[in-house]
Amino acid sequence: MNQPKIIEFPEIGNSMLGYIAVAENKDLPFEVKRIYWTYFTPENVERGGHAHRQLEQILIAVAGTIRIKLELPGGEKPEYILDRPDYGLYVPKMSWRSMKYSHNAVLLCIASTAFDEDDYIRDYETFLKEC
Ligand code: TYD
Repeated sequence: MNQPKIIEFPEIGNSMLGYIAVAENKDLPFEVKRIYWTYFTPENVERGGHAHRQLEQILIAVAGTIRIKLELPGGEKPEYILDRPDYGLYVPKMSWRSMKYSHNAVLLCIASTAFDEDDYIRDYETFLKEC
């Protein structure tokens, strides 16, 4: 897949009991190699400011609200507001991104590769060139 896409995860439960959302490898666009989460990000901080050469991700606001701006290799700049724990945003490789968090937000990332700093493009001009 080379386009971002909202993925809705199956949800188990009800409003009396609470809910469980489930992500299984068989339902995901890639095999999961890593999971990490970011939190306690001040509201005035913009995270991201990079792209990945190979990494594909699914980003989930498991708490709070997260605004995500992408720039795709074709120049398209889609924006998303993640505010549902059962919704994820598939982010393809070579997507420049920036994220802003509400004060209570936790961003869970399901990742297709292990951590590799060489996979990052942190310079915007390099991103445009490699596109
Ligand atoms: P980064 O991906 O730049 O964070 P964000 O896009 O949310 O702003 O990662 C921040 C720092 O954490 C950077 O120095 C790399 C390090 N890091 C790891 O060591 N392992 C990981 O799995 C991740 C995601 C980041």
